[in-house]
Amino acid sequence: MEITKIYQPSEVDQAAREIQLGELIAFPTETVYGLGADVNNEKAVLRVFQAKNRPADNPLNVTVANSEMVKKYVNQINDWGQKLIQNFWPGPLTLIFKIKSGSLPKVVTGGLTTAAFRCPDNKVTLELIEKAGTPIVGPSANTSGKPSPTSAQHVFHDMEGKIAGIIDDGPTAVGMESTIIDLSGDTPVIVRPGAISTTEIEKVLGMPIKMKKQASAEKYKHYNPNANVMMVSDSDWSDAIKWASQQMNIGIMATTNIIKKVPENVITYDLGENINSASRKFFAGIRELDSKGVDTILVQQFPEIGLGEAYMNRLRKASADQMWQLK
Ligand code: TXA
Ligand code: MG
Repeated sequence: MEITKIYQPSEVDQAAREIQLGELIAFPTETVYGLGADVNNEKAVLRVFQAKNRPADNPLNVTVANSEMVKKYVNQINDWGQKLIQNFWPGPLTLIFKIKSGSLPKVVTGGLTTAAFRCPDNKVTLELIEKAGTPIVGPSANTSGKPSPTSAQHVFHDMEGKIAGIIDDGPTAVGMESTIIDLSGDTPVIVRPGAISTTEIEKVLGMPIKMKKQASAEKYKHYNPNANVMMVSDSDWSDAIKWASQQMNIGIMATTNIIKKVPENVITYDLGENINSASRKFFAGIRELDSKGVDTILVQQFPEIGLGEAYMNRLRKASADQMWQLK
């Protein structure tokens, strides 16, 4: 076991030094916390897979401080890429490009001919990468299969003793992971909905964008708490609240207007006023209710527009598509 240090943003020099030494440092972004290591240090990258317990064939993103850093790995950033970088970087959009063969270790790409590039909108993390003098891998800093971490405390919970340090920059602003768009083929495809909506991307590229079909049985488990998660449709909330108040160990996660109607014997987590607060608090809520040992968590749905695309994608995965129904 190693001692996991908590760094303040003012201590970024020390954290950058650890990256250069081949150590693992968790870093803040606007979406969720990431787990960083020098992309070119294969031993360090392997330790990222171990710390997360992540399947070895699931590729890692390459987190950069600017688009210049991408050029070392990509022959030419195509027009789509240039437009999206111009409009959204630094920001919550990850871009997949074909890479120069051999430019990145296989452990990073899982042997693919493409790689995913991410430039987060977080001052201290951009400094971390600049000071380390290298891009870093940047998967979410959670144990594989568990909810993504939106605070340094969440990272500490999952990674204590496994990594050298965590840069604590407070809770993340967005709470949902970045949108991932594949620009390596004949047409752009969104492979993961995220903080940047399909509509925003379509506006910039001036064309309709396809969303990759989400397989119902995913290859990798996602956002999987110990509790059973169920979605509740808007018209079912009064029945669901009544049912929950007659059971033991049910948790309810919803916006304030719904939480207000829940009797005190039910464990609740308030998602705030709207989709923005709900997205920001979603993973923290799942973690908190899970830690209270509830058997079932009932969660509010949102319309699938804007941030709602990302929110509903995560909720569907966490619930394996289960809807609460009055029996
Ligand atoms: O917001 C985010 O993107 C966060 C923060 C920390 O930057 N990172 C993140 O990384 O969510 P991760 O590893 O948890 O999710 C990235 C996803 C993975 O599902 C991985 O399979 C996919 O990106 N991915 C990576 N490289 C890929 C590639 N070349 N082609 C297709 N998918 C790829
Ligand atoms: Mg992840």
